Amino acid sequence: MSDPIPSTTTEAIRLQLRSWPEVEAYLEHQKGVIVPLGSTEQHGPTGAIGTDALTAEAVALEVGRRSGVLVTPAQAFGMAEHHLGFAGTISLQPSTLLAVLHDVVLSLARHGFERIYVINGHGGNIATARAAFAQAHATAASRGLANAGRLRFKLANWFTAGPVMRTAQALYGEREGHHATPSEIALTLHLEPSLVAKQRPLPEPAPAGPIHGPEDFRRRHPDGRMGSDPFLASPAHGARFLDEAATALAADLEGFLGEEASTAD
Ligand code: NI
Repeated sequence: MSDPIPSTTTEAIRLQLRSWPEVEAYLEHQKGVIVPLGSTEQHGPTGAIGTDALTAEAVALEVGRRSGVLVTPAQAFGMAEHHLGFAGTISLQPSTLLAVLHDVVLSLARHGFERIYVINGHGGNIATARAAFAQAHATAASRGLANAGRLRFKLANWFTAGPVMRTAQALYGEREGHHATPSEIALTLHLEPSLVAKQRPLPEPAPAGPIHGPEDFRRRHPDGRMGSDPFLASPAHGARFLDEAATALAADLEGFLGEEASTAD
């Protein structure tokens, strides 16, 4: 169903820069689309609030460029309730994010997209995104969408791609931590050179622990970090993470686009 399009330019695969006839023509030979999913939340005392959205979008655009698959605008607001104790965080409640993702994927499905690949930059989105996919399958069937039986949704977390995790372990060991990690900060330093000026040595971080509400999170993790040392990050590391994430996810996307559709429809 999906002949891979040769590697192209970032402009060519941005949905925002396409016209509707171009999208219609695209759908004649390709049913795949990439949706970047981020979060707008604190990333420690030196990390950018937009880290998870910037990284998800950059990985998505690079995967799109390499595969020729269209990339939608990023969903930059995610489920970040536990980070609301820190200024600048903007969170969607799980039920809100579920509704947003449900409506996004069903809009795409209505036009004929059948393989919707969500590239995610934030662990807090995972449970809700999966719930949204389940809800969207149910809605597609109940609305009688012609392609309901052929719809496939997949969540791909760039930060858990095998090569990315191995490189983070090799570069940072335990100091990778669990939030405001040097790997994600490195990618932002590569993407936005102005962020390098924020980098400074930080005291020992609070260790990772259970996640409850925003007040408890701030009490346990006073500067927002969970066991991480983002000062270890560099722009060169970030370029490497981008390449490794894009390589891994482009291969995963190719498999996803080639999967057999259900025979039940
Ligand atoms: Ni993050």
